[in-house]
Amino acid sequence: MPSGSFDFVVAANRLPVDRVVAPDGTTTWRTSPGGLVTAMESVMRHREGAWVGWAGSPEETPEPFDNEGLHLHPVPLSGEEVRDYYEGFSNDTLWPIYHDVIVPPTFKRRWWATYRRVNQRFAEAVAEVAAEGATVWIHDYQLQLAPALVRELRPDLRIGWFDHIPFPPVELFAQLPWRKSILRGLLGADFLGFQRRQDGANFVRACRELLGATSKGEVVTWQGADDDEPGAAPRTVRAAAVPISIDVQGLEELARKPEVRERAREIRHSLGDPETLLLGVDRLDYTKGIRHRLRAIAELYEDGEIRPPEVTFAQVATPSRERVAAYRDLRAQIEGTVGRINGEFSLIGDTAVHYLHQSYPREEMAAFFQAADVMLVTPIRDGMNLVAKEYLTCRYDLGGALVLSEFTGAAQELRQAYLCNPHDIVGLKQTILRAMRDDPAAKRRRMRTLRRRVAAHDVQTWAEQYLEALGHAPDRPPRRS
Ligand code: ADP
Ligand code: G6P
Repeated sequence: MPSGSFDFVVAANRLPVDRVVAPDGTTTWRTSPGGLVTAMESVMRHREGAWVGWAGSPEETPEPFDNEGLHLHPVPLSGEEVRDYYEGFSNDTLWPIYHDVIVPPTFKRRWWATYRRVNQRFAEAVAEVAAEGATVWIHDYQLQLAPALVRELRPDLRIGWFDHIPFPPVELFAQLPWRKSILRGLLGADFLGFQRRQDGANFVRACRELLGATSKGEVVTWQGADDDEPGAAPRTVRAAAVPISIDVQGLEELARKPEVRERAREIRHSLGDPETLLLGVDRLDYTKGIRHRLRAIAELYEDGEIRPPEVTFAQVATPSRERVAAYRDLRAQIEGTVGRINGEFSLIGDTAVHYLHQSYPREEMAAFFQAADVMLVTPIRDGMNLVAKEYLTCRYDLGGALVLSEFTGAAQELRQAYLCNPHDIVGLKQTILRAMRDDPAAKRRRMRTLRRRVAAHDVQTWAEQYLEALGHAPDRPPRRS
C-alpha cells in the first residue's frame, strides 16, 4: 500500500471536533464530548500530525482538512453503521462489559460484523495518511481490531493503542462471543497503554487464558497461528499502565482569568449565594454514579443535615449516547429523581438541586469548578475521570474539597481526596459531610498535596511517557533520570 506523508497519526472514533449542520444547511464545528478529546486535543496542539476519526454525524463526510495546525482526516459512517458499530457494539456491548456490567450487555452478530467493517475502514484511512515508518497511536474500545488491521496493511509502522476505559477482568471479558478476535486485534499493537496496572494485568491474563499466550511481567508473547487464524504471525508486545491527565498549565491559566473568576462569583450568586455549593459534572452515563449521588443528597436533605438556601447541589450533565436505551432510561430516572427531590426539599426561590443537561464552553466549566465548595465525583466505575483533575487544577486558591469514588482510575493517584464507596450510601453521606465540615487548614493541606500530584503528571508528561514506551516496546524504556 502506498504511504502518506504524516510521521505521527492518531486514530480515535471521534475527531476532536464534531460537525453540526444547521437546518439551513450551514456547517459549524464544536469540540467533541468526553475525556479522550479533552486530553488528546491538548497533546496534539503541541505536535504535528494527522487525526483520523469520525465527524460525529452520519451526513455527508467532509474531505480531509487542516484545523489549527492539525490535519483532520474524517472517516465516513452511514446511519446504519452509527447504529450498529457506535451505538450498538461499542456502547451497548463493549461499554457495559468493560464497566463491570452495571447494565447488561447486548450481543448481536450484525453489530459485530459492522464493528469489524468499520475498524477495517479506520485501518485503511490510517494506512493512507501514515508516512513510511510513522508512529500510529490508536485510541480506545471502539478501535480494538484496528491495531492488527493496520499492521496487515502497513507492517512498517510502529503501532500503539491506549485504553481510556477499564479493561475488564477475564471473567467478564470472556462473556464476549468475539473475545479472541478482539485480543488478536489488540496484539497487532507494539505497546498497549492502560489507565491502571490492574487493567494491564487483566489484559495479560485474558491473553494467557483465552489465547494460550505466555507472559513475563508486562510482556505478552503470542505464538500467532491458532485454529481460528492459521496464518497469523507470532507477536511479542508490552502492556503497561500510563495514567492519563489534563493540560494543567492551560487550564490553570484559564481559571486565573479575571473574567472566569467573576463568572464563578456570578454562578454562586445565581444559585442563591449558598454557604456550600455541592457540584457534580459528568456525561450523563450510568457509570458515573449520579443516581447514588442523588440518593445521598436526598437523604441528607431528609435527615436535616443540609438544607437550601445554605446548601445547594448543582448537577451538570452532558447529553450522551441518547439513542441507546440504557442512556434514555438513565436520563428519565435522573430527571424524575431531581423533580422529586426539588418537590420535597426546595423552598420558594431556593432550589435544592439545580440540574443542567447541557454542554458548556471550557471557560464556563472552569468557573463552575471554581464556584464549587465540594466536588462530587462518585462513579461506579471510571477508567480515570478527568473532571476530578480539572477541579483540583481550577482550585489554585486551595479552597474546596474533592469527594472521589474508589472505583475511578483517578483514586489510585489522588489518595488525599475524600475517598468514598458510592454503593455505601451511609458512608457517602458521611464523606460528603466531612468534606463540607472538616477543619479548613486540613482541607487546604489536602488540596495542596492533590494539586501537586496532578501538576507533576500532566497530559504532556503522559503523552511523552506513552510515546517513549511505544518507541521501545516490547522492551521497557530506559529509566528517566
Ligand atoms: P468521560 O470521558 O467519561 O466523559 P472524564 O471525566 O474523563 O469523563 O472527561 C469528561 C470531560 O468532559 C472533561 O474534560 C469535562 O470537563 C468535560 N465536560 C463534562 N461535562 C461537560 C459539559 N456539560 N460541558 C462541557 N464539557 C464537559
Ligand atoms: C469516554 C470514552 C471516549 C468517548 C467519550 C465520549 O471518554 O473513553 O472514547 O469519546 O467517552 O463518548 P462518545 O460516545 O460521545 O464519543
